[in-house]
Amino acid sequence: MCGIVGYIGKRDAYPIIIEGLKRLEYRGYDSAGIALYDGENLNISKTKGKVSDLESHCSKDNNKSGQIGIGHTRWATHGVPNDVNSHPHISNSGNLAIIHNGIIENYEALKKALIARGYTFQSDTDTEVLINLIEDIQIQEQVKLGKAVQIALNQVIGAYAIAVFDKNNPDELIIARLGSPLTIGVGENEFFIASDASPFLEYTKNAIYLEDEEMAIVRLHKDIKVRKIKDDSLVDPYIQELKLNLEQIEKGGYDHFMLKEIHEQPKAINDTYRGRLLRQEAIIKMAGVEDNMKKFLNANRIIIVACGTSWHAGLVAEYIFEDLARIPVEVEYASEFRYRNPIITEKDIVIAISQSGETADTLAAIKLAKSKGTFVFGVCNVVGSSIARETHAGAYTHAGPEIGVASTKAFTTQITVLTLIALRLSRAKGTISSSEFRQHLLELEMIPDKIISALKSDTHIKEISDLYKDSRNCLYLGRGYNFPVALEGALKLKEISYIHAEGYPAAEMKHGPIALIDENMPIVVIATKKGHYEKVVSNIQEIKSRKGKIIAIVTEGDTQVRALADHVIEVPETLESLSPLITTIPLQLLSYHIAVLLGKNVDQPRNLAKSVTVE
Ligand code: F6R
Repeated sequence: MCGIVGYIGKRDAYPIIIEGLKRLEYRGYDSAGIALYDGENLNISKTKGKVSDLESHCSKDNNKSGQIGIGHTRWATHGVPNDVNSHPHISNSGNLAIIHNGIIENYEALKKALIARGYTFQSDTDTEVLINLIEDIQIQEQVKLGKAVQIALNQVIGAYAIAVFDKNNPDELIIARLGSPLTIGVGENEFFIASDASPFLEYTKNAIYLEDEEMAIVRLHKDIKVRKIKDDSLVDPYIQELKLNLEQIEKGGYDHFMLKEIHEQPKAINDTYRGRLLRQEAIIKMAGVEDNMKKFLNANRIIIVACGTSWHAGLVAEYIFEDLARIPVEVEYASEFRYRNPIITEKDIVIAISQSGETADTLAAIKLAKSKGTFVFGVCNVVGSSIARETHAGAYTHAGPEIGVASTKAFTTQITVLTLIALRLSRAKGTISSSEFRQHLLELEMIPDKIISALKSDTHIKEISDLYKDSRNCLYLGRGYNFPVALEGALKLKEISYIHAEGYPAAEMKHGPIALIDENMPIVVIATKKGHYEKVVSNIQEIKSRKGKIIAIVTEGDTQVRALADHVIEVPETLESLSPLITTIPLQLLSYHIAVLLGKNVDQPRNLAKSVTVE
């Protein structure tokens, strides 16, 4: 995820773009850049780091003039964060500049073809491929920039929000979107381009939200022309008057980043498996796994190291790897593993999971494993992070920046990556049949829609939250694949609402926690149809006879648990192995609403940090 800003009009573009990028920094913050046209030259400044680093960089260069320009704040997807990989990228001729938010999946094939035609590349990015593709088309087909962009986008597979500028035609910007947001601010003889409206709110409240598969030619002193990228048909752009304030826009209209990120999960999961899960061909393609397939297949066991929510994702993975790929798995708290002289050998594989890629304990566990000659595979969200660099190979989750301290979309995308790996290994080992494999692919592709459906219980969950917000304690119970989900649900509640909560395997209740149950104790039970349903129903009966208050997560249409529980929250049915991706959603919403009702600081809970870089 990245933030893009553009301006064309009568004002100085530099301050508008820099201030706009600062407001979009929540979308990505590993590097930033700006291209300004001063009437003669296209001046590009870019640097690794934050927008403030770009500002310092620009003060040195003093190339800040121009009334047309484009700027970018990056969240790396292809190529580590560094100056060269930062946007804007320019074409080989130096005439075209582009900023891009998204992923071009077929960039390797396009790059090969361009190299064969004599193009050279400075960066590792997919974006530089796109701008050279546009230039190549412009030259070969002798077409205007808008047409060249359109032809290029029809050759591209992936997602994008782009803005393209041509030095030889400096009165226009070409923009287009598919899968990544893009807004045009319409002023008096001036236009603003941005990932959301926050960069231009003080200049204009009139905005056009470009739809997927639409492109626009934004011309100075002229109207905006919007077209469908596929068939070139003209679209009548709808200009709407914005009523939102700045803060609301940065949070996409949500009250908190956590809520926004909960709602982003369908898209985040889609981004995670896109280009990796190829259902038509019935294959899973993950370069980090393919390149090390022998190691994975010959491993005696997999040891997963992680902390907090990422550790819970590791626990879910333990079930998946053992169940599907029949590989023994151990899941370790990185903080314990690093100090307990663990027995690991070259025959083991360590998988390190980390959203931030900076967690000190996980990093130390990786270094320890490497010192024993063990192959370490990373599952990280932040591209180019310390853990991503320290591991031998890995797979990114592509969840986009997670701002809320309580992890939500990082968890479900970690599970998605780990599921893809387990499925890939299962096929390679032949531990699941091809029809089971296909069924998993099909179901995995349906998860985003099922999450959208689970999110519809939001109002109902808020009502339940109001009833239990004053509880001092709460138990979370689950079995099998949903035991780690119970742990994660309890962690979410305690970290943002400061209510004491414990997760347990449902059957363990009778070995101790049952003593806590009385009419004041809410107990959240994951009781979906697959797995150990009947056994969980028995556990619910045990709670009921002790007067505990039962909030049950059930499969749509369930009647048995509904008859016993005080409240039920329905979720769509899926395969048991994929159910954590869905059952987690109502638990995230429950903790969110309780914390909001209690007036807690949801996005920045006390004593916590997003990236735990100390022991
Ligand atoms: C909880 C949470 C933390 C992190 C943990 C590990 O919501 O966010 O428990 O999961 O600090 O962080 P990463 O995944 O960045 O290594």
